[in-house]
Amino acid sequence: MPDRLLQRNREWAAGHTPGFFDKLTERQTPRFLWVSCSDSRVPANEIVGCEPGDLFVHRNIANLIDHGDLNALSVLQYAVDVLAVPHIIVCGHYQCGGVRAAMEHTDHGLIDNWLRPIKDIYHRHADELEVMDTEQARWDRLCELNVRKQIRDVACSTIVQKAWQRGHELTIHGWIYRLDEGLIRDMDASIDGPQQVPAIYRSGPARAVAKNK
Ligand code: CO
Repeated sequence: MPDRLLQRNREWAAGHTPGFFDKLTERQTPRFLWVSCSDSRVPANEIVGCEPGDLFVHRNIANLIDHGDLNALSVLQYAVDVLAVPHIIVCGHYQCGGVRAAMEHTDHGLIDNWLRPIKDIYHRHADELEVMDTEQARWDRLCELNVRKQIRDVACSTIVQKAWQRGHELTIHGWIYRLDEGLIRDMDASIDGPQQVPAIYRSGPARAVAKNK
């Protein structure tokens, strides 16, 4: 079975000119950091028609950016500090199994620890979620709330805060993908500067002085 993948790879490579690969070998200059779920139905490059070199990608279960996750933070730092991407896209998706598992009361093993932040989001929005008519509506809404939380967390990260401080133009976008349509919706929740995050998360010398007074 894996042999089939290698065969397809040879066919794929043959479909590109040698110049295409030469250019990529020199350096990468992606304009986007893409964060999405590990779900096999949400392939990063394909659903947005991108080629190698277009997207710098981080994927994990339920597209979470956790401030204690060295993996996610390292990707974020490299994308922002070294590649200087102007756009970070967190693209969640409906029917997310990770979000679903977080809504349940069953034991899923180790992964329940990873999904714990989604339970926190549910708890914070319980008033809104629990009056919804169907489980499906609740699930869909939690998928959306999760994306909103993740883009806020990206915006509040020390990495993005410092980037804005030094004048790096950087916008964080919240998108959500619908598996049954193959379409992405922009959630109109973009964050493009420190003024859009609560003051406590902002960094900067002027504010530090003010705090000490
Ligand atoms: Co998912």
